[in-house]
Amino acid sequence: MKTATGRLTILTDNVVPGKSEAIGEHGFCVYVETNNGNFLFDTGKGKTVVHNALVFNKDLKAINKIVLSHSHGDHTGGLPEVLRAQSQKPMDVYAHPDIFLYRFRKENEKETYGGIPFTKGYLEKMGARFVFNEDYVKIEDGIFLTGEVPRETSFEGGDMVDRFALRNGKVIPDLIQDDQSMAIHTEKGILIVLGCAHSGIVNVVNHIIEKTGVETIFGIIGGTHIGFSGEVQLRESIKSLKTYQIQHLVPSHCTGLEAITRMKKEFENIFQFSHVGLSLEF
Ligand SMILES: [Fe+2]
Ligand SMILES: [Fe+2]
Repeated sequence: MKTATGRLTILTDNVVPGKSEAIGEHGFCVYVETNNGNFLFDTGKGKTVVHNALVFNKDLKAINKIVLSHSHGDHTGGLPEVLRAQSQKPMDVYAHPDIFLYRFRKENEKETYGGIPFTKGYLEKMGARFVFNEDYVKIEDGIFLTGEVPRETSFEGGDMVDRFALRNGKVIPDLIQDDQSMAIHTEKGILIVLGCAHSGIVNVVNHIIEKTGVETIFGIIGGTHIGFSGEVQLRESIKSLKTYQIQHLVPSHCTGLEAITRMKKEFENIFQFSHVGLSLEF
């Protein structure tokens, strides 16, 4: 199996370090530099990616491919800004085809749109060339996307209340099947980059191990949504994660502050606080 070496840097996250010109927002974006090309994983909500790329000296013109983990606006909102800033036209944008599903949340009879905030046509006019995948796919030597992740654990129900989607004119519960993560094969094991992990962090890890046969996890970084998915899911996920060989655990973005501090206590030796500008070499 070919591996990749390089470094990833968080460009968008909910948290910024004190002494920094960077700005934070509720969203996620990671700049991945490798010997096999540069990738942008998600684009934040839109107000931070270009600014923070300048602050951390990450050249958006040097991106070869963009990956969208799922449709939510805090991951896709910055796509037009990135398409404007990059130099490759057209630019391959990897995503699950459900990324353009109409989805909404219903709270107290009020509906709020919750999908990608742009049409496919608009993004294509701006230079995007969508490459859709539902299955596990290689996007470059050593760099893979999980595609749809089977929901197999009994405890990862997620935060699915009040989420709906329109499929073939019918309103259905939105299971966010477009949720996918990146798996980078490194010399030190697999490095997993999560968007929100709506599929469940343990389901994601299991799926990658099953697809690769590699059980050494160099790192897990990204949103886990775990703080919004109930005590049972948090407790059982922590228990499961302890059974793997993980070297770096960086729960970010939509993990929630309480769950992040809990994970710090539980994973003292491998835990790192996530923030804009954090970088990890592999
Ligand atoms: Fe998110
Ligand atoms: Fe999300």
